[in-house]
Amino acid sequence: TIVPVVLCGGSGSRLWPASRSSYPKQFLTFADETSLFQQAVARVAGIGRPLIVTNAAYRFLVAEQLRLIGVEADILLEPFGRDSCAAIAAAAAFAVRRDPAATMVVVAADHAIPDTDVFLADVALAVEAAGQGLLVCFGLKPTSPATGYGYIRPGRPLLGGKVHEIGAFVEKPDLETAKRYVAEGLLWNSGNFAYRADVFLSELAAFQPAVLAAADAAVAKAARDFDFVLLDPEAFGQAPKISVDYAVMERTARAAVIAARFDWSDVGTWSAVQGVSPADENGCAVVGDGIVADSRNCFVYSPDKLTVVGGLENVIVATTKDAVLVVSRDYSEHVKQLVGKLEKGG
Ligand code: GDD
Ligand code: MG
Repeated sequence: TIVPVVLCGGSGSRLWPASRSSYPKQFLTFADETSLFQQAVARVAGIGRPLIVTNAAYRFLVAEQLRLIGVEADILLEPFGRDSCAAIAAAAAFAVRRDPAATMVVVAADHAIPDTDVFLADVALAVEAAGQGLLVCFGLKPTSPATGYGYIRPGRPLLGGKVHEIGAFVEKPDLETAKRYVAEGLLWNSGNFAYRADVFLSELAAFQPAVLAAADAAVAKAARDFDFVLLDPEAFGQAPKISVDYAVMERTARAAVIAARFDWSDVGTWSAVQGVSPADENGCAVVGDGIVADSRNCFVYSPDKLTVVGGLENVIVATTKDAVLVVSRDYSEHVKQLVGKLEKGG
């Protein structure tokens, strides 16, 4: 069986004030009527019964958003976030108990991928490669030397050239290194993967035995509560906090990459949200209730109130019931630090 695993534990703090830890960005609705989470689930629901891995705090949000799109899924609840390696490890431990030959297609809940058919064609290829025991990721052509991504150096061709070995995988390099990588033609890691569950677990046994032990025990001792599977807190708490990129993808000898044909945005900043929202002839976009007059390249996010702006260029305005953010487009990367200061009261 194929098990689409939807990871939705992140908090997306660069999209403050809309995205907060109580309501992170994957559950927000931007251009469409549906959230990024709902879009991610809908994209993969045709290939198998989805397995959602999320924080216990989001259980009702997840259940309600699934109900609205009419998709049934298994929902694994983490008592606390232990980053993506433990989340995928728990999913793998859950999946092999149902089917020892399960192949997982791991997708992030907070990405915009406009063309589902192109994405699914790449996923089909990834599933085929994963069947050969490879840990497959999708490589994207970089558009900037971003330091928040993983970089992939493709190696020898495999499976008739449709897939390549990974020569090197480097997670979140510094800016100088990222610039060099872009110049050398390395690819961005999209953050979506395909693995056989048993192969992933055996790689964990080699590289992250503590994550494996914690996740496996947390599944073995999990409690059922309606549709929810609650990972055992004591066991899961033993898992080191590390992302799958550092934990496995940088280290495994079984890694492979597919040059992705799909368009992709991880919608990490307001400027990226603007990028996936339909724009008028002046490059301005509005989500919610907004009017933008005599402006260029501006973006308004205002779901609960009317927001009017005029005569501005390259400005982002994001409002919620109790907060307003106004920043220049160039500043949108820095909102995370800004919010960090707010939380510290400074
Ligand atoms: N369930 C669960 N629990 N999900 C989690 C957790 C967790 O503790 N931590 C992160 N996730 C989910 C996030 O919601 C997101 O969907 C995905 O795992 C990746 O986590 P991020 O925190 O967003 O990672 P990143 O953006 O810094 O880096 C990853 O994605 C980049 C592309 O967007 C890496 O895979 C990079 O290599 C990649 O370039
Ligand atoms: Mg991310």
